[in-house]
Amino acid sequence: MNMIWQLQGFDRSEFIQHYWQKKPCLIRQAIPDLRSPISPQELAGLACEDEVHSRLLIEKDAETPWKLSYGPFQEEVFAALPKTHYSLLVSECDKWIPELGDLLAQFQFIPGWRIDDLMVSYASPGGSVGPHSDEYDVFLLQAEGRRKWQYTNDRVDNPALIPDLDLAIMQNFNGDQEAILSPGDLLYLPPGIAHHGVAVDACLTFSIGFRAPTAIEILESFALEVGRQNSASIRYADPDLETNRHFAEITQKEIDRFRAMVLSLMDQPECLWTDSVGRLLSDSPVGSPVDSPVGSEDLDNPPARQQGLFKNNWMTNPESRMLYHRGDSGLRFYCNGRAYKLPNSDPVIEVIQNLCESRYLSAESLDACREQKALIEMLFDLEKTGALILAEK
Ligand code: SIN
Ligand code: CO
Repeated sequence: MNMIWQLQGFDRSEFIQHYWQKKPCLIRQAIPDLRSPISPQELAGLACEDEVHSRLLIEKDAETPWKLSYGPFQEEVFAALPKTHYSLLVSECDKWIPELGDLLAQFQFIPGWRIDDLMVSYASPGGSVGPHSDEYDVFLLQAEGRRKWQYTNDRVDNPALIPDLDLAIMQNFNGDQEAILSPGDLLYLPPGIAHHGVAVDACLTFSIGFRAPTAIEILESFALEVGRQNSASIRYADPDLETNRHFAEITQKEIDRFRAMVLSLMDQPECLWTDSVGRLLSDSPVGSPVDSPVGSEDLDNPPARQQGLFKNNWMTNPESRMLYHRGDSGLRFYCNGRAYKLPNSDPVIEVIQNLCESRYLSAESLDACREQKALIEMLFDLEKTGALILAEK
């Protein structure tokens, strides 16, 4: 029987006010009667698939301590594992197990673009990934068996790490807090909190991880967007060229000119900033960002392929990221790093929200928006780039 997820036992706004990005929070029985929709055996099966990202970490009884290897794995690898002290971690399980996608939807009190993925880890008794801290918020939901978590109250910056390992494990760890989590218990940890989770019994843990782009990432996206949208490039100029200098010298005045150039580049219209953010946050491996505005097909004389759009039901590729922004300059839709400008009208917004939420478009709902040319052109582009795929009838 399918699990109906219902996160409970805490008030969302109180949680945001007192804990989110601030301090750890333990919620006992956030999902009572939790039954994992994936077994340890199925998880191992997933880790053998080509497109799945997985890691195996053996703390003891391998050639080296804390031996890390990356999937896809051959089935034989699992037969040769020690009985204790290892972990198998599989990222993005929400994409492969629809029920886990539904579970992720329980965290929609945090904006969709902030949510990264749901990772499932299996740990044999005594297994852990070692004491460490992450730069991201995480909800750790115990799904099967018990795990003992130790964690700090406060951020731990630049901890000493065990040298020569492929992963960051702290040399000295002192957790002020300790809790044994049973199925259904949920532990929230903000970024920088050091933590160590050791399997009491063989166990499954779901980690709901979040994204937090860096200033450098948004600056890179912004620079690309200026390149796309702003043809009048700002170029170095020095009508006040200084004469008292050696020819090999870079003068302070020159540095100041470069700095002023970059600072004046920042002053761009609102929509350029919006597109820089939208493209960055929707970036995904599906399709690729385009350098020119999307869509130049003649919609009054649609080719046969375009007609096919109306005859079918569609779903979004599980790997595609879809977001939108409503502002003074209209409605903008972002998918996998591509940007689309749409009219800010109710029927268009309805389709866009439906697409982002249910990730499904029926032939019927498509037929109702035949007259929305910009929207149809965009949907056609989504199909062409693999963001929209045929759904079963
Ligand atoms: C795990 O599930 O084994 C590790 C999760 C984490 O430490 O963030
Ligand atoms: Co962690």
